[in-house]
Amino acid sequence: MSEQPLLEVKDLKTTFSTETGSVTAVDGVSFSIDKGETIGVVGESGCGKSVTAESIMRLLNESSTKYGGKVLLEGENLLKLSKEKMRDIRGNQISMIFQDPMTSLNPLQTIGSQIAEAIIVHQKVKKAAAYQKAVEMLRLTGIPAPEKRVNEYPHEISGGMRQRVVIAMALACQPKVIIADEPTTALDVTIQAQILDLMNDLKKELDMGIMMITHDLGVVAEVCQRVVVMYLGQVIEEGGVGELFERPLHPYTKGLLQSIPQLDGDRSKKLHVITGVVPPLTAVPKGCRFAPRCAFADETCTNKAPELNDAGNGQKVRCWHFEKILKEEEQHVATV
Ligand SMILES: Nc1ncnc2c1ncn2[C@@H]1O[C@H](COP(=O)(O)OP(=O)(O)OP(=O)(O)O)[C@@H](O)[C@H]1O
Ligand SMILES: [Mg+2]
Repeated sequence: MSEQPLLEVKDLKTTFSTETGSVTAVDGVSFSIDKGETIGVVGESGCGKSVTAESIMRLLNESSTKYGGKVLLEGENLLKLSKEKMRDIRGNQISMIFQDPMTSLNPLQTIGSQIAEAIIVHQKVKKAAAYQKAVEMLRLTGIPAPEKRVNEYPHEISGGMRQRVVIAMALACQPKVIIADEPTTALDVTIQAQILDLMNDLKKELDMGIMMITHDLGVVAEVCQRVVVMYLGQVIEEGGVGELFERPLHPYTKGLLQSIPQLDGDRSKKLHVITGVVPPLTAVPKGCRFAPRCAFADETCTNKAPELNDAGNGQKVRCWHFEKILKEEEQHVATV
């Protein structure tokens, strides 16, 4: 029997009740993360990446949100825990890093006291020991002169340094899983590369599992081992990074990959972009959700919703015609 995954999301469904009725933003999402593994979650804006993360962390307002399915952390279903128990797990066993570091930082409190506070809340240590640990965590994230930095306020340091502080805070209790929602989007490219390297090193050192939410397939190629592609609240493709980049199966994934600018390619050529827009959650197509934007869609696609099926090679895809499309592409390559 294979080992149980570190984090297993099973058929997750998140429904919001709104003034105009209920909408299901995450609809039957499943994936798992092993120890020491980074899994990328990609998809256009509004496809449910953040809601998936916030559901795993149970950060959504529970009076207007209904969860279905399971979120198993080492076999324990987080969706069934009491609020108190969940508070204990959040930040301690599973932490989240947001796009804007100021979401997590208090502008009125020194960096050191914020990290120390996170440590004191979860671990029964004295203030002095927690400060010591805060300095250690800052050093681990590559911040120069951490013993000086602990006394500074968030506005006194740069954006890249702030994101390092947030990472130090997220790591302070040595969580098993880190969920990073666009952690480098707000940073410039060189700082972005440094932060990604840092997360990679820390993951290896601490043997964590990371869920990396990103718009940027370049980031996926750099730091992830597997990738989940989401569209309108569902997983439409999943696979190893090498396999998925080499042989994308879903027309949507192909569109995403073709939208990456090629530095060495013909840059005068217009980038392929996926036509149309994502429909609103109040008008989810009844067949394949991508059908209205898909060049290959036929009657089956508009009428019947495909399942996420095994496609060999460790890949899964939610498309009626992926085999046919692959065959056509192979023939096309053979005749060119
Ligand atoms: N509290 C809420 N009530 C109702 N709908 C919501 C709520 N929060 C999110 N949504 C809707 O859920 C859908 C998914 O949103 P989500 O923020 O997860 O997208 P995303 O993939 O993270 O997009 P982005 O790349 O822009 O961050 C969107 O249509 C959004 O409008
Ligand atoms: Mg988001």
